[in-house]
Amino acid sequence: MRPLAILPSVLAADLAHMGEAVKDVMAAGGDIVHVDVMDGHFVPNISFGADMVKAIRRVTDRLLDVHLMIAPVDPYIEAFAAAGSDVITIHPEAGPHLHRSLALIRQLGKRAGVALNPATPVATIEHVLDDIDLVLIMSVDPGFGGQAFIPSSLEKLNIIRAMTAGRDIEIEVDGGITAETAGAVAGAGANWLVAGSAIFKGGAAGYAGNIAAIRKAAQRARGEFV
Ligand code: DX5
Ligand code: ZN
Repeated sequence: MRPLAILPSVLAADLAHMGEAVKDVMAAGGDIVHVDVMDGHFVPNISFGADMVKAIRRVTDRLLDVHLMIAPVDPYIEAFAAAGSDVITIHPEAGPHLHRSLALIRQLGKRAGVALNPATPVATIEHVLDDIDLVLIMSVDPGFGGQAFIPSSLEKLNIIRAMTAGRDIEIEVDGGITAETAGAVAGAGANWLVAGSAIFKGGAAGYAGNIAAIRKAAQRARGEFV
């Protein structure tokens, strides 16, 4: 089994105190920082640009997992790489040539991910399995934090697990992940669990407990008794 990681999505942080929020949430047990980039065009909401990635890069040495919900994506990949992203994940609908975009991310020395929306077929990645380091199964329609988990994501995760078996590919899930849904997604094969509202709710005092609850549920489902 690939190692489990919990990824706080800083979209749900107190944006007036982003630096502190990142430092605190990682000190409280977060493994990898998840940054949601939204353009108000590919998704109906606007969030951060490459300068935010650069700013977060200055306050942590953890991996930065950058989820680009922007179209066209190609003109911005280089800027996000230069800003200090470690993983750059793109949606196949965000450009004309998925293979070319993934190759660009790797040429820039970054890990390449593909994100599949709830209605995007798993077959979309069938012919780029050699070109990716991560698959992100969206368990909500992208654009907002705090939405309800879509149960059909579990079936997709199971298929992706079989499809990527034996490969060096992380299976990430994003949207509606809480202590209640973490067990099911981990049991279906997800090993990188993104959570925004379930981690940041209640402010800094709650981070450690919120992360621990998600991790524990996932570990139980993985048969790692805790
Ligand atoms: C949704 C984003 C998510 C979001 C998750 O478009 O990709 O990363 O922040 O938020 P929660 O965990 O609140 O569903
Ligand atoms: Zn995301």
